[in-house]
Amino acid sequence: VKRVLVVGYSQTGQLDRVLDAVSQPLNALEDVELVRAAIVPLKPYPFPWSLMTFFDQFPEAVALQPTEIAPLPVSGRFDLVILGYQPWFLSPSIPTTSFLKSPQARSLLQDTPLITLVGCRNMWGQAHLDMAQLLAPLGAKWIDNVVLQDQGGAIETFITTPRWLLSGQKDACCGLSAAGIADQEIARSARFGRAIGQALQTQPLPLSASILQGLGAVKAQASLLQSEKIGKRSFRLWGRLLRALGPQGAWARKPVLVLYIVFLVLMIVTVVPISMALRRLLAPFNHAALTQLETDFEQPSGSDSRREKEFL
Ligand SMILES: Cc1cc2nc3c(=O)[nH]c(=O)nc-3n(C[C@H](O)[C@H](O)[C@H](O)COP(=O)(O)O)c2cc1C
Repeated sequence: VKRVLVVGYSQTGQLDRVLDAVSQPLNALEDVELVRAAIVPLKPYPFPWSLMTFFDQFPEAVALQPTEIAPLPVSGRFDLVILGYQPWFLSPSIPTTSFLKSPQARSLLQDTPLITLVGCRNMWGQAHLDMAQLLAPLGAKWIDNVVLQDQGGAIETFITTPRWLLSGQKDACCGLSAAGIADQEIARSARFGRAIGQALQTQPLPLSASILQGLGAVKAQASLLQSEKIGKRSFRLWGRLLRALGPQGAWARKPVLVLYIVFLVLMIVTVVPISMALRRLLAPFNHAALTQLETDFEQPSGSDSRREKEFL
């Protein structure tokens, strides 16, 4: 029997639905033992978020500072671990970081093949770099990465995602699509489970290389990757200042946090469109470099989707 651990944190249940879809084909296999475990923060995060509590997470998220979580009720070794996570402020969510910094993560992941599965709005590149940094000391064998993104364009989700997170309203409204990952996209992610099942049954274990290539696992966008790099620098700088003022929730942080929210909104409506327009103008001149940037971030699973039909 091959043992597969599916682990992750999901606040609204969206990522859980993705993990369910991927797990289902594996559940049906007799020679696979599927173990599901949720990362549970001891102090739950509020949903919907208040604006201040939402932004108060970024200094710790970006600094990869853990919070307290319950130990996972699992033990033993696994042939494969599937870790679902979502970015929070261009970094892995705090519950995810907390798990990866726990002693239990080391014993579960050491020398174990690992697939990461991201469910996010559209900015996951910087969190992916953090993930590499968090996984390196654990000795996991990171063989694949899947990214599912919210439906609608960047401008649309700039409205629909915050509306969802800050008010709890997810429905389509005012000519905009519903917030979050499209239902059809979640259903289609079962293809990854089928491919994983096939690999576990036909390939020599331990798995040592990507098994999800050709399945359209991840599509990177250079313009977003470039914006993320700038955004992360600003989060780091302001985050350091905010952390120096006190822990999350401290009164001393509040005025600076308000100032930062105003600064961020001004940046997003002025600098971001100007720099995106400039980059678009320059894009034809550094096309090769931008394509390379996308290809790099799409490793190890790639954006190619030629094998998709086989597993749908
Ligand atoms: C505090 C916070 C920060 C977020 N930051 C990002 C981000 O930087 N990039 C992104 O694409 N999505 C971001 N999101 C959206 C999440 O990645 C995710 O899509 C959403 O929270 C639903 O996930 P769930 O499975 O936990 O319900 C953020 C969400 C929260 C709550």
